[in-house]
Amino acid sequence: MAKQNWILIAILVGLFLLIFKEISEAVNAPKKTIPEIPSEGWTAPSLYLDRELEGEKRELVIYGEELIANTARYLGPNGSVAAVTNGMNCQNCHLNGGRKTWGNNYGAVASTYPKFRDRSGSTETIYKRVSDCMERSLNGKTLDSTTREMKAMMAYIEWVGHAVPKDSVPEGSGIKPPKYLDRAASPVKGQEVYAAKCVSCHGANGEGVLAADGLAYTYPPLWGPNSYNSGAGLFRLSRFAGYVRDNMPLNQASHSAPSLSDADAWDVAAFVNSRPRPSKDLSGDWPNIAKKPVDHPFGPYADGFSEEQHKFGPFQPIIDARKK
Ligand code: HEC
Ligand code: HEC
Repeated sequence: MAKQNWILIAILVGLFLLIFKEISEAVNAPKKTIPEIPSEGWTAPSLYLDRELEGEKRELVIYGEELIANTARYLGPNGSVAAVTNGMNCQNCHLNGGRKTWGNNYGAVASTYPKFRDRSGSTETIYKRVSDCMERSLNGKTLDSTTREMKAMMAYIEWVGHAVPKDSVPEGSGIKPPKYLDRAASPVKGQEVYAAKCVSCHGANGEGVLAADGLAYTYPPLWGPNSYNSGAGLFRLSRFAGYVRDNMPLNQASHSAPSLSDADAWDVAAFVNSRPRPSKDLSGDWPNIAKKPVDHPFGPYADGFSEEQHKFGPFQPIIDARKK
């Protein structure tokens, strides 16, 4: 045989052995379950992989996710189920359906509710907490707890956190405020941050951009008649600054690689929360005024600091005075 043929046969034998080795390894390998995707802290469950969730329960969770992602389609001003909210989606503030680490996720809800909250001075259920966001963040009305929509949203939120042990709070759930500044946050500086990093999506008047169908926002509003009201969590500077530092501009910032400095985040929060927005009667909130968070912008207070300082800071002196 010619030398070339021997080389060809050697190559073929080599290839055959290699393929045989791969196949036998694959066949003999222990059956692995699909590995969890590593993330900072907590991993939200996947509906695709959850085979235990079946039947009507599964249908409810899927509908709940849809309502949280596309709230406006169902519950907005032209909603197909009821016109009870302002046109924003829960997901605008609870990213990826409330599953994103550091994206104001729902990881700690099932594990910590019902819980006592000082804002209402009572023990709150998940229903009460969802209602709060509908009445404040979505500047609307809540739904009866017996409606299919409310049951679905609650089932979804419970499912998102079902693997979190009772009373534990995974890292990266909710909102973490940036480091406090040693000065008051500045709406003037914040306006510059807004012009440089926010205006392209959220608009010159914070009005956002409606999608072509007019039903929902492509870019949600930050102030004005269709935004969250003065009773919403984001109206507190620390909530706004923390959410924005870890997530905005969307898809360009993350907790470990923010686009804004801590100071930028506080300042842009001060700017946005100085613009006009719907107000809410808050006379029933914080029945024990000593429990008001340092950045709750409405008096009276038990600590003697002004409304101005409680709105814009500096907050550290208030924290220090309260410790005494
Ligand atoms: C404008 C922004 C915004 C929108 C829209 C919004 N929320 Fe919220 N939500 C917040 C903020 C801010 C908090 C408080 C987070 C914190 O303090 O850590 C919160 C808290 C919650 C919590 C409690 C989380 C916890 O860990 O205690 C639940 C549950 C919740 N929202 C559900 C919803 C649902 C359901 C919708 C839609 C019907 C919705 N939210 C719409 C901003 C929003
Ligand atoms: C590239 C476009 C883009 C830029 C730039 C951007 N955002 Fe957003 N922002 C979004 C989108 C989209 C959402 C809603 C996310 C969702 O529904 O998944 C959002 C949501 C928000 C929300 C919560 C919902 C609301 O309307 O209250 C706040 C607050 C916010 N952005 C603030 C900011 C600030 C402050 C800046 C500048 C530092 C900024 N964003 C820059 C696209 C952007």
